[in-house]
Amino acid sequence: MKKTITIGSDHAGYALKVKVIGHLKNDLGWDVIDVGTHDESSCDYPDFADAVCKNIQNGTTELGILICGTGIGMSMAANKHRGIRAAACSDVFSARLTRAHNNANILCFGERVVGYGVACDLVDAFLATEFEGGKHQRRVEKMMALEKTEF
Ligand code: RB5
Repeated sequence: MKKTITIGSDHAGYALKVKVIGHLKNDLGWDVIDVGTHDESSCDYPDFADAVCKNIQNGTTELGILICGTGIGMSMAANKHRGIRAAACSDVFSARLTRAHNNANILCFGERVVGYGVACDLVDAFLATEFEGGKHQRRVEKMMALEKTEF
């Protein structure tokens, strides 16, 4: 069965997003829902973080990718959403461990930080890794319980 992922970017991540979509479709065989932006006109990253998060919250896809200049604004905006665990990564070890230990459901990175090759490696590691559960399950549950008191 084909797997589907939601992806979004702002203008600063648009060019890399186009290439990453190609990698997802052509090299990894994933279907991709692209929620925008669709060109390099200046726009606001929280709008696209929100669109990707909505697709995860409503069950359209389990996982998402967000790309901006640094990956940081996208991760901050995404983590304002209930049920979202977004990680800004620029190294493969973090991209793997944020799935294995944090059960991250959105990978964020920055076009001004990583090139296409590293971006593909981040995506590959993120998608190939399963959550380990066990003691990490308890920690993720504690983290998500903070939504009840802090949001
Ligand atoms: C846009 O200039 C830039 O601020 C944005 O893409 C992102 O890097 C913010 O975190």
